[in-house]
Amino acid sequence: MRQPKWWQDAVVYQIYPRSFYDSNADGMGDLAGITAKLDYIASLGVDIVWSCPFFVSPWADGGYDVADYRSIDPAFGTMADFEAMIEGIHARGMRFMMDFVGNHTSDEHPWFQAALQDKNSPYHDYYIFRPGKNGAEPSNWASIFGGSAWEYVPHLDEYYLHLFAKKQPDLNWENPAVVQEVIDILRFWADKGVDGYRLDAINYLYKDPDFPDVEPMPGSRYGFATEHYANKPRINDHFRALHDAVFGPRGLTTVAEVAYLDEKVAREYADPARGELDALYPFDLLNVDQDGYDKFSPRPLDLVQLKAALAHWQQMMQDHGWLALFLGNHDQPRAVSRFGDEGEFRARSAKMLANAMYFLRGTPYLYQGEELGMTNPHYTSLSQFRDVEALNALAEGLARGESEAHWLKLLNDRSRDGGRAPFSWNSAPNAGFTTGKPWMDPCANAGEINAAAEEDDPDSVLNFYRKLIRVRKGRPAVLFGKTEFLLPEDPDLMVYTRTDEAEALLSVNNFSSLSRTFALPDAFLGAELLLSNCGDLKIRDGVVTLRPWEGFTLLTH
Ligand code: GLC
Repeated sequence: MRQPKWWQDAVVYQIYPRSFYDSNADGMGDLAGITAKLDYIASLGVDIVWSCPFFVSPWADGGYDVADYRSIDPAFGTMADFEAMIEGIHARGMRFMMDFVGNHTSDEHPWFQAALQDKNSPYHDYYIFRPGKNGAEPSNWASIFGGSAWEYVPHLDEYYLHLFAKKQPDLNWENPAVVQEVIDILRFWADKGVDGYRLDAINYLYKDPDFPDVEPMPGSRYGFATEHYANKPRINDHFRALHDAVFGPRGLTTVAEVAYLDEKVAREYADPARGELDALYPFDLLNVDQDGYDKFSPRPLDLVQLKAALAHWQQMMQDHGWLALFLGNHDQPRAVSRFGDEGEFRARSAKMLANAMYFLRGTPYLYQGEELGMTNPHYTSLSQFRDVEALNALAEGLARGESEAHWLKLLNDRSRDGGRAPFSWNSAPNAGFTTGKPWMDPCANAGEINAAAEEDDPDSVLNFYRKLIRVRKGRPAVLFGKTEFLLPEDPDLMVYTRTDEAEALLSVNNFSSLSRTFALPDAFLGAELLLSNCGDLKIRDGVVTLRPWEGFTLLTH
C-alpha cells in the first residue's frame, strides 16, 4: 500500500481555548486547562491538537487580532504553560498545530502603532494605507464583518485597509520586511516544538493594488470585493517563500483556510510537487444553508447542493492534494443544530453526521464538543452574544428596523457564538467549565448533554466517535480510495463509495426524520457492517430500511 504522510492518516481535534476548560477560576479557558484535559483528548484517538490563537490580543475578534505574536496572552497563562502543554501533547503521542494569523494584526500591535505615528516610519509600509478618493474611502470594498473595509486616520489623512474588523489592519505582504517578520515568527514557534500550522485567512494576502470599486450589495454603498483580494496569482510566491524557509526544512505540516477557489488554484496550492501547502480547508464549503455569502439570510439545508460541493472537492483533489473534512468549527453554529436534529434524534443524528463525513478522503477536523453532539446554546437574551461579527450584524439589522426577537433567533441559529459557548464537561454549575463567572454562558442543556454523562454510556455520541476514529485509522480505502457519490439528486440520502485496490467502503446516511429505503449495490451484498449509529441493519432482499437519521458504513474486500 502507498504510505500515507503522518498528517494524512490523522484526525485533528480543534480547541477554542477560551471556551475549553478554565484552570484558574477567572471564567476563561486557558492553556493549563488544555493540559489538564489531555488524557480526555487522547482518549478520543485523535492524532493532532489544533488550538485557535492564545497570543496577546485585545480580543476584538476572538484572538484573531494578535498584538504580540511571540507572547502568550496572560488570560491564557505563560510561556511555561505553553511548554507544559506541548510536552503533554507529545508525551501522549499527539502533535500540535498552531494557528497563525498572517493576513492582519491587531491595531494594538506595536508595528501598527508605529505606522500610525509617522508616515515615514518603516512600519507604515507594513500595512496598506491609501489616500481617500473624492472625499471618501479609496474604494467601496466591504469589510467581511460589515461596513467599509477602510478606516480613516485623521492625523495622517489616509485610510488603512481592514478586510475584517477595523481593529484588524491588513498587513502589506508586498513589503519583503513583512514576509521576513512572518518567517521569523514561524521559526520561533517551530523551535518550541510546534508540528504544523493552520494558516488563517491565508488566501487573502495579495490585494489588487488599484483597489477598483465593485458592484455594491443591495441597500449598501459597499460591495464584496473578493475577486480583487482572494487567490490572486502572486500569492503562490508567498506560500513558496514560507514553505522553503520554514515548513519544508522543519518538516511542518500546513493546512490553509481558503475560500473562493476554483479547480486550478486549489490544485496549485496543494499539489505536493509544487512545495506550497499540504492541505486545504475550504471555509466556504458550508455556505449551503444561506443566501450567497450572507450567513444571516438562512435557507433550509439543501443536501443536494452539499453533496455536489463535497463531490466536487473530492474529485478535484483526488490526485492533486489533501483536504480537511469538517462540519463545524469556531466560526460556525453547531453541526447537529444546523444539519441534524436537535430533538428526539439528537444523538443519532450527531453520529450520522460523523459517519457521513469521516469516510471521505481527507483529514477530519473534530471541533471541541462535536464529539458530545453539543447543540447551539439557545440563549434567551441578545446580551449573551459576544462575537464581533454577530454584534455588527445585529447593529445593522436593528438600524434597519428589524426586531430584537428576529435577531435573537438569527444569532442563536447562525452566529459564530453557537460553537463558542463553553464546553460542557459535567452537570456542575457552569457545565464544569469554570468555578468562576464564565465569559460566555454555557449551553442551556449542559445538565444533560456533557462529557461525564457520555463517558459511561456505551451508546453515547462520545463513544461512537471513539469507535469511528478507531475503525477509519489505517484503512486503505479511507486514505486513498476513489470517491463516488451515488444518488446525487436524492434530497435526504447521502451515499458514497470509496474504492481502493483491495477493499471498498459504502457510507449510507439518512438526513431526514423519515424512514427511507435503499437498495444495496451488488458489490456490498453480504459486506461487513463496519459502523452503524443504530447498532444493526434492517435489511431484506438487499434493501435496507433506514430509520430516521440512520447512518452506517459497510466494508468489503
Ligand atoms: C478566520 C478565522 C476567524 C477570524 C478570521 C479573521 O476565518 O477562523 O475566526 O475571524 O479568520 O482572522
